[in-house]
Amino acid sequence: MKSGVVYIEHLVPSKNNIREALKLRKQLGLRDIVFSTDDPQVCYAVRMIVKPYRHLFVSDKASIAKNRNSFREVSMDITEDFHSHDKRVRNYLMDASLGTMSVLEGAMSERRLRHVKAVADLSVKIARSNGLDERKAYMAGLWHDIAKKLSADELKYYMQLYYPEYLDYNVNIWHQYVGEILLRKIYQIRDKDVLKAVKHHCLGDDSSPLSMVIYCADKLDPSRGYDSSSQIELCCRDLKAGFRLVHKEQHEYLRKEGVLE
Ligand SMILES: [Fe+2]
Ligand SMILES: [Fe+2]
Repeated sequence: MKSGVVYIEHLVPSKNNIREALKLRKQLGLRDIVFSTDDPQVCYAVRMIVKPYRHLFVSDKASIAKNRNSFREVSMDITEDFHSHDKRVRNYLMDASLGTMSVLEGAMSERRLRHVKAVADLSVKIARSNGLDERKAYMAGLWHDIAKKLSADELKYYMQLYYPEYLDYNVNIWHQYVGEILLRKIYQIRDKDVLKAVKHHCLGDDSSPLSMVIYCADKLDPSRGYDSSSQIELCCRDLKAGFRLVHKEQHEYLRKEGVLE
């Protein structure tokens, strides 16, 4: 008897989706229904949601692929409905800001969205190898360029208001400060480590673990088009040593480009 697999990517199924999954299991004669995603925050949330149900599970895509013959894909329209969940789940969704993907889609170009997703994935990899919090790494990776699309005038407005002391920095650096402001003031992100990582991701001027992870992942994003595998390997093995190397290379590059003096 096969189980059904529903791929959910970055979406958290609503209570209606859960009822539908239970119905489909019976109709199609499946053993279980497994929701599958590689998004660690979604995975955590769905695990909480399906816990009371004997025949519903959540799993990453690689585990499904390994046992491909035990599954058949079931398609379902996933409709996120924040209010359909109980308070514990809602609190988690808020903390993990799982509305993130829809916010990001509206706030940046497709290319930028691909970059932040790649940075989030790489941040998780580096965090995991160094025994750090993967969920925070994922979140900070996704959010780090939230202010990148703002015009120079918009950035200047926030800089004058909140960070006048850094106004003489190059305009390309400003989005690290304004990003942190937007996250605090508009998107209600309260996690201090995440805020700090965003605030220092251009200059790498903070050496707390999450800040180092995001700084390195941003610079080493494989989609930037150069081979960064040896630096990535070093960051996974020894974050501090990786950070020192990436920082040195990056500052040489920024000086050459005239962004830093
Ligand atoms: Fe950036
Ligand atoms: Fe970036």
